[in-house]
Amino acid sequence: MATISDQFQARLQWFGNQGMLSGRTYVLVSGSQQIDATITRIKYLLNQKLEKPLATTSLEKGQEGVCNISLAAPLEFEAYAIDPELGAFNLLDSKNGELLARGFIDHGLRRADNIHWQKLEINKQLRAEAKSQKPCVIWLTGLSGSGKSTIANQIEKQLFATGKHSYLLDGDNIRHGLNRDLGFTDADRVENIRRVAETARLMLDAGLIVITSFISPFRAERAMARSLFEPGEFIEIFVDTPIEECEKRDPKGLYKKARAGEIKNFTGFDSPYESPGNPELRIDTLDQDASESATVVMNYLAIGAGATPIQG
Ligand code: ADX
Repeated sequence: MATISDQFQARLQWFGNQGMLSGRTYVLVSGSQQIDATITRIKYLLNQKLEKPLATTSLEKGQEGVCNISLAAPLEFEAYAIDPELGAFNLLDSKNGELLARGFIDHGLRRADNIHWQKLEINKQLRAEAKSQKPCVIWLTGLSGSGKSTIANQIEKQLFATGKHSYLLDGDNIRHGLNRDLGFTDADRVENIRRVAETARLMLDAGLIVITSFISPFRAERAMARSLFEPGEFIEIFVDTPIEECEKRDPKGLYKKARAGEIKNFTGFDSPYESPGNPELRIDTLDQDASESATVVMNYLAIGAGATPIQG
């Protein structure tokens, strides 16, 4: 009898030109079933030249590895060894449908069966009503030095002045604590944003207005963050400062270091920034200062002076 579960272990043969990233969401296709799938852990690489499997944290083109995979919804499957049809799947790129990998399921993960969602009596809506506010996530994205943190700070000040209860998650600060183990490789940035998005979700559930200030350079992870929230809750704001201007401002001296080759994987140099295609707001920091930009955001939220506060 087939298993129905949303987590399993599988062997993956990776064909994608871009390496597989643990934490990124892909599209799994098995027969007629199509479900969003996230690699939660790459357990080890299968390397024919070695006698023993090799530990790894990424999977490059042509490599084969064993991974744990978590799905957005339950899948009907069987171990590949028992049923090659129900046990095999393809992984596609969620952006363009490109075939990235072929997968072979080893077994389901028990943990998925034994963890249930606890229904609590005090819920998001009640918490939000108690605070007379509509919780949301104000997600600022843009290059280093674009002005995200300064604008975020101004937004929070204006929210505070109108009696709103907020919390600001800032890249540099979170990287001192929760994400102190992460650097700036693609894989680490994916994990950085995954943890921040999950944290923002908890805070939103607590009834807060959450402001996040991270470069968040990849479209896939911004889309993943958006997918955690209900329509209207996730407000993506592109702080659209050209790189030449960011380099001119260089508040932390990092562009100078990147030019001198002292920093690797620096966004805009040897690490990409994928601009938002369709953000809720785009902020031009050449024409207005941070407090004017914050007012634009406040007006969008309709909490600004003269506007009626949005009710929970
Ligand atoms: S993200 O890409 O993973 O979203 P995040 O916003 O957390 O990045 O951190 C970016 C901040 O870290 C920058 O504003 C800068 O101060 C600092 N930083 C240090 N090294 C780098 C780097 N290689 N690329 C970008 N920012 C860096």
